[in-house]
Amino acid sequence: MKIRDFKSFKRAKRKITVLTCYDHETARIHNEAGVDVLLVGDTVGMVKLGYDSTIPVTVDDMILFTKAVKRGNTNAFIVADVPFIPKKKHNKAAVKDAKRIISEGGADAVKIEVFCGRSQSGKNALSPKDRVDSIKIIKDLVKSGINVMGHVGLTPQYIKEMGGYKVQGKDIETAQSLLETVKELENIGIFSIVLECIPASLAAEITDGLSIPTIGIGAGRECDGQVLVIDDILGLCSNLKPRFVKQYADVRKIILRAAKNYCADVRRRVFPGKKHSF
Ligand code: KIV
Repeated sequence: MKIRDFKSFKRAKRKITVLTCYDHETARIHNEAGVDVLLVGDTVGMVKLGYDSTIPVTVDDMILFTKAVKRGNTNAFIVADVPFIPKKKHNKAAVKDAKRIISEGGADAVKIEVFCGRSQSGKNALSPKDRVDSIKIIKDLVKSGINVMGHVGLTPQYIKEMGGYKVQGKDIETAQSLLETVKELENIGIFSIVLECIPASLAAEITDGLSIPTIGIGAGRECDGQVLVIDDILGLCSNLKPRFVKQYADVRKIILRAAKNYCADVRRRVFPGKKHSF
């Protein structure tokens, strides 16, 4: 898949398939399966590095995992997350970091979360500071020729501001802010946008109003494409199972059985036998 295909897929009403990917072998498998886009998500921090949120993930982490995916990939489009940008970080430094993910990691595009929800205090409905900062970074990146995918709705990097993993855009103010923000991002020149955990009717309205494709996760079937975390569909995560996840395999069970059988064989001196010895 190439950058020009995003709009043409939308026009042709052809759904875009996206799966997260963090390593070389999985990239090869995704290619064989015909996945259109490999997302090196900062979920890597939770599913592979054991953090309890995506916030501790660094730019160097993202470069390392993106490089691994790049080595295994032949034909999918690679998008890598720009990890959490602390408020005190200067815009110029954030832009430089995002560019490193492209130049050193080898991604075709970066994804940036834009918080446009209700702040936890509820008084000041929106958080313009966070919103404007990430929009400014996106503007600078697009201006310098970087392909940017937006990400709105439930934006895990702003989990503290949102007060937990909650569906966004259920109230009129946040829904309005989402509608305005996606339009603003489209005008800036992003090529696609992730809509995470918003009502299906709102996602349909957003999708209808944009010429760039929307990629949904917990946002209903009307989005132009869908994304899920590979570890979730494989049943590799033993803790959190969001409602929007469809599990297609129970790989955890398979690994557990294989590891147990191996331990038993070693302890009973069955492995290595003649076949595996020289
Ligand atoms: O980091 C990630 O994997 C993501 C997807 C869940 C959309 O942002």
